[in-house]
Amino acid sequence: MAVTEATWARIVEEMAKLPEGVRRHIEEVRQWCVELAKAHHIDVAKAELAAIAHDVCRTVKAGDLLAMAREYGIPVTNLEEAFPVFLHGPVGAQALKRRYALADEEILNAIACHTMGRAGMTPLDKALFLADKLDPSKVSRYPFIAEVGRLAKGDLDAAMVCFVDHQVKAFLDQGDLVHPAMLAARNEAILAKRKQP
Ligand SMILES: [Fe+2]
Ligand SMILES: [Fe+2]
Repeated sequence: MAVTEATWARIVEEMAKLPEGVRRHIEEVRQWCVELAKAHHIDVAKAELAAIAHDVCRTVKAGDLLAMAREYGIPVTNLEEAFPVFLHGPVGAQALKRRYALADEEILNAIACHTMGRAGMTPLDKALFLADKLDPSKVSRYPFIAEVGRLAKGDLDAAMVCFVDHQVKAFLDQGDLVHPAMLAARNEAILAKRKQP
């Protein structure tokens, strides 16, 4: 569904109210997401708006994220109970739909899965997921990210596998949890790569 100019303008206006650090991140993600969209024949306008809006709920407090997830009927597992920040994507997508009349399901789905990925990711989902990680200010968190960026320009699935492999190894080394959605995304990216000629 086409996004109206009024909806676009309202979202841009709302995002301008976010803290400076989040706005800087959003701008980096926007640039990467547009670049990846152009490289992979993804709708550039959708990629740009998805990037602009993706962290609409990034600064919502943990308790409020849980309350909003329950209000919106978003499933909350033990993992999200323990780490409500996992919910800022799905809650953000629903908030954009309900509060800002953003009705484009492709954009909403990409925003919903931008943190952890999911099974059945579309090229737009992958572009936003990767763009979110490719923000240069995250290089200390993702020291392997240059390789992901290089791969992403030519092959989104290869970049997905590269990112998740490095990230899951880091989680395991640190004794951290691994969200199953990230493993689902990795498995499907590997299957997609095996189907490539
Ligand atoms: Fe985010
Ligand atoms: Fe982000």
